[in-house]
Amino acid sequence: MSWIREGELTIIERFCANIIKAGPMPKHVAFIMDGNRRYAQKCHVERQEGHSQGFDKLAQTLRWCLNLGIREVTVYAFSIENFKRSKEEVDGLMDLARQKFSRLLEEQENLKKHGVCIRVLGDLPLLPLDIQELIAKAVLATRNYNNDVSESLLDKCLYTNNSPDPDLLIRTSGEVRLSDFLLWQTSHSCLVFQSVLWPEYSFWNLCEAILRFQMNYSALQKARDSYMEERRRQQMERDQAYVTKKLQQEGFASHGDSRRRRTLLQKCTATREERIQGFLQALEHKRADFFERLCTVSA
Ligand code: IPE
Ligand code: IPE
Ligand code: MG
Repeated sequence: MSWIREGELTIIERFCANIIKAGPMPKHVAFIMDGNRRYAQKCHVERQEGHSQGFDKLAQTLRWCLNLGIREVTVYAFSIENFKRSKEEVDGLMDLARQKFSRLLEEQENLKKHGVCIRVLGDLPLLPLDIQELIAKAVLATRNYNNDVSESLLDKCLYTNNSPDPDLLIRTSGEVRLSDFLLWQTSHSCLVFQSVLWPEYSFWNLCEAILRFQMNYSALQKARDSYMEERRRQQMERDQAYVTKKLQQEGFASHGDSRRRRTLLQKCTATREERIQGFLQALEHKRADFFERLCTVSA
């Protein structure tokens, strides 16, 4: 049987899904699946059983997302801090992750037919390496080009660069914090904290979170748009300042010749793009090398 169980929603769920779908829908939803151990305690079952039901809830939630037309889901399944838990619990969680995620990956081909794509990201040593490499390389590559360093470059350097930022982030179990999850990527997302424990998460909880997103939609959109506009404006300001300096070096007055200014501006943008592409490619190779080494070591 498929882990993401094929299956339709009930009539009432379908009815409500259709109403919700008439409003703006989040394209990308992130989940912090929290509360497995409290659930186990509440139901008087083993802790591992709580985690196991948590993974199964993920499968069910993915199905709801699929039915609601949400094509992209990112989940926080394990944090670096979680390695501080007992060896027994960490091993149990790793076993579950291996079992459940490999099953999910096996289903990838089938899921692709629905337009769903799965990427599993993250490993303990990746973060320090990522940040160290990133900073070292960026310092070298951009030391003569301060204008290259921007928020948009930072976006492109992250593992999540292929995805749009989440529109909606949901954390269960009543905890109101992000615990280091997608801190940069959720600065303009709708954050919804729900008290339900993750293994008890229901279709109705998901609908409630989407409704909250819809109620905040125009404010979120406005904030996002004005942030992007501000980014563009700042980049343009920096480029103009760079061109003015160049014109002065060439002996023009600060306004310079307008045609020359335009040419310099175009050149400045094009060469920056080239440098950034080179830098990103180098970073990509580094990551690929690192993954390869990691796989060889763990094989
Ligand atoms: C979330 O549930 C799952 C993982 C962190 C792997 P917890 O294990 O944090 O359960 P609670 O929050 O202690 O109830
Ligand atoms: C958070 O783990 C990460 C996941 C839910 C996967 P915890 O539940 O241990 O959260 P903190 O560390 O207490 O914030
Ligand atoms: Mg927790």
